[in-house]
Amino acid sequence: MRKPIIAGNWKMFKTRDEALQFVYSVVNKVPDINKVDSVICAQFTVLRCLVKRQGSNLRIGAQNMHYEDEGAFTGEVSASMLRSINVSYVIIGHSERRAMFNETDETINRKLHKAFENELIPILCVGESLTERESGQTEQIIGRQLDLDLDGLSKDQIKNLVIAYEPIWAIGTGKTASSATANETCGFIRQYIGQMYDDETAATIRIQYGGSVKLNNIDELMNMPHIDGALIGGASLNSDDFVELVKAAIK
Ligand code: PGA
Repeated sequence: MRKPIIAGNWKMFKTRDEALQFVYSVVNKVPDINKVDSVICAQFTVLRCLVKRQGSNLRIGAQNMHYEDEGAFTGEVSASMLRSINVSYVIIGHSERRAMFNETDETINRKLHKAFENELIPILCVGESLTERESGQTEQIIGRQLDLDLDGLSKDQIKNLVIAYEPIWAIGTGKTASSATANETCGFIRQYIGQMYDDETAATIRIQYGGSVKLNNIDELMNMPHIDGALIGGASLNSDDFVELVKAAIK
């Protein structure tokens, strides 16, 4: 049985006061961590104050990190810096970072290695564009991302990885992939992991769907056998909605 995982991706939203208010209002309401992992991936400036108030059931993640330990990389933050303030998760390779900040599969691969070295749990984002889906290239694109992004990672590391399948055309657009389409692609990812590693690893790894997940579609998505949770942008900004989304993930 895979434990469901709901992660809010706040992107570049919420000041310190707004972030604190959110955490105060959800911390005693999210379900037990033994039933579901509830994660908020926030911007760097609020990570420490959120970690201090995460309580027993909430966990905090970052949205990016650098692949070096330290050095002359103005504006960057390393995995060991995140670890030093007890951040638990880190999103790696979000499509917005791939598209706007020149993230390549090579840098994503280096980041994944570094995240594991520092005992962070990475949430790796993969997904295709609308043109790629319409021209029937979805599996080819995602297979290639998995080959390159996961290069050199061990079976034990992969079992702790979370993969978020996020079709680029569904992010922030209000267009969700149908639950059948989302399940089919998450199933493809699971099968591909099985080929790269083995059946046990494929059965253990948690795969989220992301892209316009909201209260009105989470139940249907979570009922799908290959979908173990969701990476949620817009709808995770509202504290009441976040709590309900997490509750909906418990099947
Ligand atoms: P969205 O974002 O839920 O606002 O579509 C999802 C994401 O970018 O992770």
